[in-house]
Amino acid sequence: MKKVIQDYPHLLHGGDYNPEQWLDCPQVLEEDVRLMKEAHVNCVSLGIFSWAKLEPVEGEYHFGWLRKIIDRLYENGIYTILATPSGAMPQWLSQHYDEARQVGPDGVRNLPGRRHNFCPTSPLIRRKVKKIDRELSRRLGDHPGVILWHISNEYGGNRLGGECHCELCQEAFREWLHKKYKTLDNLNHAWWTTFWSHTYTSWDQIHSPVPHGEIGIHGLNLDWKRFVSGQMQDFCMAEIRAVRKYSDKPVTINMMEFFRPLNYYKFAKQLDIISWDSYPQWHREPDDRETAMRAAACHTLMRSLKKAPFLLMESTPSIVNWKDVNTQKRPGMHELSSLQAVACGSNSVQYFQWRKSRGGEEKFHGAVVDHRNGSNTRVFREVAALGERLERISDAVYPTCNRARAAILFDWENWWAVEDIQGPRKDMAYLETVLSHFRPFWELGIEVDFINEEDSMEGYALVAAPLAYLYQEGYAERVKKYVEEGGCYLATYFSGVVDENDLCILERHPLEEMLGIRTEEMDAVVPESLPNTLSFAGKSWKAGQLREVSHVVEDAENPVEVLSAYEQDYYQGFPALTRKKYGKGSALYLACEAEEGFLKALYEKLTEECGIRGEFTGRLPQGVVVSRRDGDQPVWFLQNFNRAAVQVELPFSFHTVEDGRALEGNVTLRPYECLILTN
Ligand code: GLA
Ligand code: ZN
Repeated sequence: MKKVIQDYPHLLHGGDYNPEQWLDCPQVLEEDVRLMKEAHVNCVSLGIFSWAKLEPVEGEYHFGWLRKIIDRLYENGIYTILATPSGAMPQWLSQHYDEARQVGPDGVRNLPGRRHNFCPTSPLIRRKVKKIDRELSRRLGDHPGVILWHISNEYGGNRLGGECHCELCQEAFREWLHKKYKTLDNLNHAWWTTFWSHTYTSWDQIHSPVPHGEIGIHGLNLDWKRFVSGQMQDFCMAEIRAVRKYSDKPVTINMMEFFRPLNYYKFAKQLDIISWDSYPQWHREPDDRETAMRAAACHTLMRSLKKAPFLLMESTPSIVNWKDVNTQKRPGMHELSSLQAVACGSNSVQYFQWRKSRGGEEKFHGAVVDHRNGSNTRVFREVAALGERLERISDAVYPTCNRARAAILFDWENWWAVEDIQGPRKDMAYLETVLSHFRPFWELGIEVDFINEEDSMEGYALVAAPLAYLYQEGYAERVKKYVEEGGCYLATYFSGVVDENDLCILERHPLEEMLGIRTEEMDAVVPESLPNTLSFAGKSWKAGQLREVSHVVEDAENPVEVLSAYEQDYYQGFPALTRKKYGKGSALYLACEAEEGFLKALYEKLTEECGIRGEFTGRLPQGVVVSRRDGDQPVWFLQNFNRAAVQVELPFSFHTVEDGRALEGNVTLRPYECLILTN
């Protein structure tokens, strides 16, 4: 595998640096370098919002200031992640060229201003971006201080999520459809347009889905989402090609958690390394466990995209300024939350931002260096202490990466389809459902990957596929092969319902034979009004809102085992959880949503049977989690998200990575402490 950061194989520590705001204050820029060294910063991201300083007038370039800064940083041992500046357009561009600006679903074109709001189709903006990207690459792309390209900034990160409804985009969408379907007959069939007499008779009748127009054709909605994501991906690829013209440094984009508009699995293929911006809501609740679980899930997704270490590209050292309440990280939380990212596979802790801007929308966003107090702050001291700790663990941690033997299916196209469903429940809550299956693994200390329907399942002992409503062509066959060869696969209610066009599958469930289940009714209830329970592992568990009524399909050779049945209502006695042997493996079917404890009990049993428990499984008190990065010498991160100290009994003796201290038996973890252990 291509070495991630060839030129600097260490854990990175630093963040977004905006010297363009301080070019008339040379003393500030000098002080920055001094303070960066004090904070153990070894890497900054530059140029993200510099377009107007790099090209103040159309076609007139000023790269000298940036080169000087990269030089000076490099001389001081600080590397640069160099950004292409397409995230925010200069006035000369957005004022002069209407075409560059995005059009909303209401058909209104944006006025100049704000950011992340270009039309991804416009040939004009593509030309302008290509030009500045190439110039940047030609002049600075081979600088020894530059270790990575940061392509644009948070693609799609504005209120429209990257969607543009302008005429150019409409035209490009129609062409995309034409290429995909070849004929209107094919399109009409795939979109089932005879319904309500919406048959298209000419390509130019097709318009993007908008609230005051057509939003009822699910195939149209799904294709539009595919197109929007693909168009942004194409824009990104054009930027990559532009910088590659003069530079072979690796490329990344800064992603945003489970960001619905963009199918990151597809983006991942054209990137060398994944990076993302993490802003969890710490201290929102009296207990940080839920927040920690969500953050872990996001980190896990990022690692899963390439099954490789990723970079935490942005995080705040203290507060953000865009939530309704912006709470300071309590002492210790900065270190813990940063190390959580590393524990899940990040090779960096980067911040937004190094120095607070003096004006503008983000002047009160947290930063390493404060307006007034400079470095004489608790935040600065905590950042510096973390930087020092990262230096101490770098050699042990950098060569490792988490390796999961279990996977959870999380598929973007399924997400789009399932949330557009107009079916059993208004909010099908796909992401929440997936997280409810992730939570038990996280609590049990068992590494898990997210995969999509196109990914290989090879190497996983267990694959859970919650609410996999849409089956891409070939998916069912791949699942069958996986189970035949010995895999364990868990399907749930409302899976395999539609094909890739969101058309209901009329024959039996594509996995009926393997699962041994015939589904009949999908029920959605208010549980308080129609409570139900299911038996499992000697207990009764509450059933949730979605409950499927299904029947066992008799198979004399491989009978279906009913592991749990409903205990009430007209489907009392019907299967709630089944298992069937198939080939060398087994397939489970979960017919309903159930309370949290049920899933934990289920996965505890399954991971045990599949032989994939972790060393700490069964030993972790509430709020304490463990992640394991594998390598010649594995590293465990034992993290306490509780506000109180807790004791953990170690499964065997360990050494601390930093000072080789031997630990065994019971250890006490201070509030928010993270122990980094090896054997
Ligand atoms: C995003 C952006 C940054 C900044 C931060 C603030 O991640 O990429 O430019 O606006 O949010 O939290
Ligand atoms: Zn457009």
